[in-house]
Amino acid sequence: MFKKLAISAVAALGLATGAFAAGGAGHVENFEYSFEGPFGKYDQNQLQRGLQVYTEVCSACHGLKFVPIRTLSDEGGPHMDEDQIRAYAAQFDIFDPELDDDRPRGPADFFPESGLENAPDLSMMAKARAGFHGPYGLGINQFFKGMGGPEYIASLLTGYTGEEKEQAGVTFYENTAFPGGWISMAPPLYGEDVEYADGHANDLHHIAEDVSAFLMWTAEPKMMARKQAGFVGVLFLTILSVLLYLTNKRLWAPHKRKH
Ligand code: HEC
Repeated sequence: MFKKLAISAVAALGLATGAFAAGGAGHVENFEYSFEGPFGKYDQNQLQRGLQVYTEVCSACHGLKFVPIRTLSDEGGPHMDEDQIRAYAAQFDIFDPELDDDRPRGPADFFPESGLENAPDLSMMAKARAGFHGPYGLGINQFFKGMGGPEYIASLLTGYTGEEKEQAGVTFYENTAFPGGWISMAPPLYGEDVEYADGHANDLHHIAEDVSAFLMWTAEPKMMARKQAGFVGVLFLTILSVLLYLTNKRLWAPHKRKH
């Protein structure tokens, strides 16, 4: 009985791994981000570079409709100054029902929505694709290496093999990170697609890293505050444990004393 059970369990496991090996999950590279680990922080300059990549390349198709433009001034985020943000917002028009006409956006408006119908909004993408990479989709890489959504996006952007195929009039591009292996987004980045004002390296790897860090920020702008709160919580619990331990000892001391 037990033997039979064991055999079928092994067989089931074998089948499951086989299915995965047959090309369900994509391959995700490990990238190093400043915001990893319990004390990690967003790198303000990297977020600004990522915003530039998003604006000059990705925004042609993808929107960020859940992100208020004024949050670009957030400390711990891109931390841009008011004038920069006003100028940034003004380049995107929005229809104003009160004016019955288009007007430039202001800091209080949100980023535009996707201009291309089948391009998903990227506001939350880094969180939506956060988990379950690594062996058997158990999220092991996320747990041990801190690999998540931004790694997936960076791997996607750098994962094109150059192969294409057409199916029912749609062109698909082979991509090692995309589940299933074929994506309908043409390679958006080739390297040197943008020129950074700070002279930072603009090869494919760095651009992909910058824009994916920026998309992590759009998906989780309060990450640093959350980490800080977590740290204070752990500190508080540690002190509380020590105090309770000492109290406990003291309360029981008279009863435990040897006569
Ligand atoms: C020419 C239009 C176009 C541009 C430019 C573009 N994308 Fe896409 N993107 C698409 C389309 C279409 C899809 C949907 C692809 C699919 O599901 O097969 C997509 C899908 C995605 C996805 C989701 C993949 C998934 O797991 O479902 C991400 C992430 C993404 N794009 C990021 C970017 C980034 C970052 C940039 C800028 C560097 C960018 N895209 C530029 C058209 C574009």
